Amino acid sequence: VKLRFPDGQNGWLVTRYEDGLTVLKNPVFIKDMKKVYGSDTGSVFTSNMLFSDPPDHKRLRGLVQKSFTPHKIAGMRSRIQAIADELLDQTSGREEMNLIDDYAFPLPIIVISEMLGVPLEDRDKFRIWSNSIIGASNQESDASVGQHMQEFIQYLKEWFANVREHPGDDMISQLVQSEEQGDRLSEQELYGVVTLMIIAGHETTVNLIGNGLLALLSHRDQLSLLMENPSLIHNTIEEMLRYNGPVEFSTSRWASEDIELNGQTIHKGELVVVALNSANRDESQFKDPDLFDITREKSPHLAFGQGIHHCLGAPLARLEGEIAILSLLQRYPNLKLRGEWSELKWRPGMIVRGVEEVPLS
Ligand code: HEM
Repeated sequence: VKLRFPDGQNGWLVTRYEDGLTVLKNPVFIKDMKKVYGSDTGSVFTSNMLFSDPPDHKRLRGLVQKSFTPHKIAGMRSRIQAIADELLDQTSGREEMNLIDDYAFPLPIIVISEMLGVPLEDRDKFRIWSNSIIGASNQESDASVGQHMQEFIQYLKEWFANVREHPGDDMISQLVQSEEQGDRLSEQELYGVVTLMIIAGHETTVNLIGNGLLALLSHRDQLSLLMENPSLIHNTIEEMLRYNGPVEFSTSRWASEDIELNGQTIHKGELVVVALNSANRDESQFKDPDLFDITREKSPHLAFGQGIHHCLGAPLARLEGEIAILSLLQRYPNLKLRGEWSELKWRPGMIVRGVEEVPLS
């Protein structure tokens, strides 16, 4: 679909699966618009792997990749389980709980904060800042967004200074050391990588758990099937990601030369965005795409993107999702939504798909 994006640029919204895969994988589509337009629009929030092309992309991804290997993540299983159990213990004896505030949000935040070395008492501030940066807060004026950005940068500045004096063995200490060595990471990139980790850790898995549980609660047959066969959890998470994934649209890419896509010419310099959740419901790729079916066998969904920018945190998000959903259902097998489905409030903004809160009884 050809359209004008809210920022005034002309571009393409790619909604079909095959076309989406091409855009995500073909190196003609690049992230760095200054290569197309010759102007530098980089900021501390975009100086990271997600907004870079090779060879910078490989260098920046390489600096944090070792913390996210499947082997490293598998080693975090017992810690993630302990966090889930502890959060559920805090809800015991209560008649009601709020899925997002009590469980789906704190779980991935505690995990990412421990990986990064963020003091846990600061986690509410991080929530406000990260919501602000991606435009997913319902109650924000432009002025308060600007103020939050400044507070966030000031916090990072003080945090990095402290880490330089007292390095630990967390990811931030390693990144700060890479920046000090100079040739692997510039100061702007240090801010960029840390911001990306914080946002990715705050805005995604929470919605996998939220959207995923809603899918199960609205498909009681699938919920019963999972309860009888907990080994289906792996498949269930993949189906949750396909059916109602937490990231609505890919980040922007620009065509670095004219290219034909499915009979249409995309001209050099035009903006292209992939509608991931739309591609994941494409009937030419997925049989009965609107059906939530946890026994679906082959599901090469695009919820984590594809190609060189394929989500670095995918193994972590999958493990967190599996532990979170199973532990919750095993503790509370008779969970129900409290209130009406029509009262659920979806978060604003183009990037994340998730609800503000899921009241449960
Ligand atoms: C990239 C989705 C969780 C870190 C991406 C992309 C998607 C995505 C779609 C690619 C965007 C594009 O190509 O335009 C998700 C979903 C998650 C999740 C659905 C949860 C269910 C996480 C977590 C982390 C993380 C927990 C780490 C803390 C990253 C990073 C990239 C990325 C660093 C950039 C990779 C690159 O450019 O090479 N994610 N993400 N993600 N994600 Fe995730």
